[in-house]
Amino acid sequence: MNETSHQKEKTFIMIKPDGIKRKLVGEIIQRLEKKGFQMLALKMLQANRKILVEHYTELKAKFFFEELIDFMLSGPVIAMIWQGENIINTARQMLGATNPAEAAPGTIRGDFYLGPQQKINENICHASDSLESAKKETALWFPKKNYTW
Ligand code: TYD
Repeated sequence: MNETSHQKEKTFIMIKPDGIKRKLVGEIIQRLEKKGFQMLALKMLQANRKILVEHYTELKAKFFFEELIDFMLSGPVIAMIWQGENIINTARQMLGATNPAEAAPGTIRGDFYLGPQQKINENICHASDSLESAKKETALWFPKKNYTW
């Protein structure tokens, strides 16, 4: 990857239904902007089962899969594409550990952890974990490719 493509790295970030219900949308966007990242696309939508099963297809065999899908169907999500230097790794660091109880202070999941009543799947926000997933998820949620400003 050359310097320019690295700076223009794109990732898919999604605010989950709990993040919207808890009014953390502005906070999440502000953190990403403060880090210097550029938003390329944003849409709020009620996901359907088909897109969620595709999005989480690698987790299909996990015991928590059905509960995860049900949770992701429990309200609208905000799907976004963001761009910036090393954004895939950095956005994951900014989210913190998958289990919000274990997420470090200073991370989104760590700072907004509510305590043991918060389920693991209610972890506020998703970000792609690799270049491959970023490409797959961006194409899945934004099939019209209308984000090349
Ligand atoms: P995963 O892709 O492993 O984590 P991340 O979102 O940090 O990339 O898992 C996807 C989602 O599945 C995760 O955000 C929350 C949910 N999940 C559970 O509900 N229980 C679990 O034990 C795990 C590992 C994940």
